[in-house]
Amino acid sequence: MSYKDKIDISNLPRHIAVIMDGNGRWAKKQGKLRLFGHESGVRSVREITETAAELGIEYLTLYAFSTENWKRPRMEVEALMTLLLKTINIETKTLNDNNIRLQAIGDLNSLNKSIRNRLQKTIDETSNNNKMTLILALSYSSHFEIVQAIRQIAEKHKNNEITLDDINKDLVSNHLFTKNFPDPELLIRTSGEFRISNFLLWQLAYSEIYITQKLWPDFRKEDLYEAIVNFQCRERRFGRTSEQILNQEKVKK
Ligand code: FPP
Repeated sequence: MSYKDKIDISNLPRHIAVIMDGNGRWAKKQGKLRLFGHESGVRSVREITETAAELGIEYLTLYAFSTENWKRPRMEVEALMTLLLKTINIETKTLNDNNIRLQAIGDLNSLNKSIRNRLQKTIDETSNNNKMTLILALSYSSHFEIVQAIRQIAEKHKNNEITLDDINKDLVSNHLFTKNFPDPELLIRTSGEFRISNFLLWQLAYSEIYITQKLWPDFRKEDLYEAIVNFQCRERRFGRTSEQILNQEKVKK
């Protein structure tokens, strides 16, 4: 029996975020170069994106390149950028065929011009799609995102556009790159690492975290189904007690 049959469609996470990890180790295990792992990871990107949209997930965020990834060997960075450009080029049609809108978060100005232009073109060409929003985190880190939010807020305060009392949780959220998206309910990390790696630190405050040993190029639709089933078995308390949650459920019924 597939995990798909165990999914409660009425209780899907609206937003799933994924730390796609393990491409390098996957390639090394086969005696291949790291780039081969990244290239193979694109197949998982395609399958997981299509599967999430098919299921009815509204937002899928993929951590494709972190601010810290710029520190990798120059050849690997260049190869990753070329792969990104090529993939966005080829997959724009797939996004449109599947009614998926593309968005990007991160320090996008640090990307080279050809990638920025291609990205913007695909964002524009898919802007009317409404089945799912695929958000690529590119040159992204939470530290960068939070610092730029603080700068914008400080500037507004300096210009008397806001008072100190206006600074609250919603105002901060509205200055993050993710201001137009709900927070992820589920974070998936592949390759068995127990780290957040500077990813969506603010937005993951109450997310359920699912860690699998699978390396990203091996992560397939059945693995996504399994992660969702696991998520649906969790009790999400948001600081309350288990009893309060059970009573709330009874009232709903
Ligand atoms: C982590 O594996 C993966 C990345 C840093 C890049 C992810 C990129 C892709 C899957 C390809 C392109 C993506 C898109 C969205 C088109 P790692 O290199 O850290 O692996 P390791 O931990 O085993 O070394």
